[in-house]
Amino acid sequence: MAAELERLKSHLDEWVERSRGNAKNGEVASYIPELAHAPKNALGIAILDPAGTLVQSGDSGCSFTMQSISKVFTLILALMDRGEETVFSKVGMEPTGDDFNSMLKLELVEPGKPFNPLINAGAIAITSLILGSSPEEKTERILRFFRDLSGDQTLNYNEAVYRSEKATAHRNRSLAYFLKDNEVLDEATDVEEVLDVYFKHCSVDVQCSHLARMALVLANDGIDRLSGRELIPRRYVQIAKTFMLMCGMYNASGEFAIKAGFPAKSGVSGGIMAVIPGKYGIGVVGPSLNRKGNSTAGVHLLETLSRQMGWSMF
Ligand code: DON
Repeated sequence: MAAELERLKSHLDEWVERSRGNAKNGEVASYIPELAHAPKNALGIAILDPAGTLVQSGDSGCSFTMQSISKVFTLILALMDRGEETVFSKVGMEPTGDDFNSMLKLELVEPGKPFNPLINAGAIAITSLILGSSPEEKTERILRFFRDLSGDQTLNYNEAVYRSEKATAHRNRSLAYFLKDNEVLDEATDVEEVLDVYFKHCSVDVQCSHLARMALVLANDGIDRLSGRELIPRRYVQIAKTFMLMCGMYNASGEFAIKAGFPAKSGVSGGIMAVIPGKYGIGVVGPSLNRKGNSTAGVHLLETLSRQMGWSMF
């Protein structure tokens, strides 16, 4: 692995600069108004190996919010809190082929259960399963989990992004009320309270190195190699990585699996968390998004790395 890391170090800057140009083929997300301020042409990456060597390039010091990347870890926390049976009574295990915020299948396909936990409807259902006696306690439990995974006890949500999403989330609100009507959100669940926790976990501020460390835990089957602690049971890591491969890049997941061939999860802030199983955790940021909601330059960079380093699992 040392030789591989050396090769990576010597080429990474060049690959980042080559991928950066793809930012012009996309747009920064603006449906959450606060996200529109992100630097369109930024591109950064951090790669962490199990010995703790961090390789970074480009604008890896950029801060951005986790957005949908947080859904991987709320899924895992819900599995740890409630077990597989309860979780999969609320969400399915299949990709949709639809946009991440689509409500089409909630009405079209009985029994109105979201197809998977990584689309917005599924993630909102998952958030409702997190244990805690109040929305504040649930948020605190999620933050604590994210802090342990990232090794940074100061991790927190970004107040401006949270407020911006809360004020404009008409579509997520309608999805959540739909779920309530379909009894995916149960009688005791207050829709606005679940949404509040969801907006906060989507708004957690990170840098590429945080995502790299969180991804490294997944790459090592739930063990944080840097502290030696088991943070996640192996079975739940398996479930999370499978979903990342099948639906982590939304309805571009098939193409990404063919071109890159490893589990990844994107967010509308332009972040991507990628896992090279048994090897590396990777965090990428590139705020310019393609039509499917994935970072144009970030996807190009990860596909380049896969080709150059032979990282496809297949
Ligand atoms: O709910 C939303 O729309 C955002 N908080 C998260 C969506 C997202 O990141 C989809 N990503 N590609």
